[in-house]
Amino acid sequence: QDASKVGSAEPGSGNRKITMGYSQIGAQSTWRAAHTASIKQAAEDAGIELQFSNAELKQENQIRAIRSFIAQKVDIIAFSPIVATGWDEVLKEAKAAKIPVIIVDRDLQTNDDSLYIMRIGTDSVREGREAFRWLDGYMQEKGKKPRDGGAKFNIAEIKGPAGSSVVERRDTGFRDAMTASPNKDAYEILVAQNSTFQKDGGKQVMTEMLKNYKDKIDILFAQNDDMALGAIEAIEAAGLKPGQDIVIVSCDGTRAIFQAMIDGKSNCTVEGNPLQGPLLMEMAKKVLAGEKVERTVFVKDSVYPAEIAPMAIQERKY
Ligand code: AHR
Repeated sequence: QDASKVGSAEPGSGNRKITMGYSQIGAQSTWRAAHTASIKQAAEDAGIELQFSNAELKQENQIRAIRSFIAQKVDIIAFSPIVATGWDEVLKEAKAAKIPVIIVDRDLQTNDDSLYIMRIGTDSVREGREAFRWLDGYMQEKGKKPRDGGAKFNIAEIKGPAGSSVVERRDTGFRDAMTASPNKDAYEILVAQNSTFQKDGGKQVMTEMLKNYKDKIDILFAQNDDMALGAIEAIEAAGLKPGQDIVIVSCDGTRAIFQAMIDGKSNCTVEGNPLQGPLLMEMAKKVLAGEKVERTVFVKDSVYPAEIAPMAIQERKY
């Protein structure tokens, strides 16, 4: 899209408020609740009128919401794509209506770069890579040994739902970092399964994995904290010590996983900062003012191992 040719009657100038239509994935996780709250608060702070739609975890609801934003002639549309594919048609409709689109949090696949202006969010490949790198350092530093007496640490991976950019990319980052490690021969991904990004889903999948591999799993990589928290309950129910018998690294950086780290039940979280609202509103204003924006802008985030959890929890906002 060409930012200078979109919008109408200078939204944001004089008394004319900018209206933004936002389609959120749904109430998927603790992280997602923080993401939603950040967007709503930032819109209010920026004086942007937000039409917020919760897709209840269905792509068809997101498509319907975007169509309704187009029909209402909002100034700008933003959304977090629940899955990576299947957006071209509705984005073409937005383009034809001259409404600019910003992709938020997750990424999408299209052959036509003109269908959206920019994306803001987190770098999910980096998150997966950082998770493995922290893990590798920790296993070596602590002189850990595989529980089954074998030559390799057995890794279990619990992923989010299939088809989203974040799930594919965290997986890729983790596996690529493993392949690139000088210690690569010390690790094996024994079992990997999709789940829901929710605590119950993590618990259910971990329970199943432990039925088959209770004496083998050394490491859990959970693609979000909520699933890690569910898995911790499953590990305890199986009579093992989470954070000790099974080393746990997850993504998101929620307050609850910091508490689990303080309690000695988890070992590291890789933040993917959900507080993206202020950046989104800033970018929306720029786009509507016809300013040039970067194609992709990542928010800042960090890696938090258990030893810094007691300090860091005091600053957690979600
Ligand atoms: O896209 C970010 C992911 O989606 C977060 O890891 C997860 O908690 C969420 O719902």
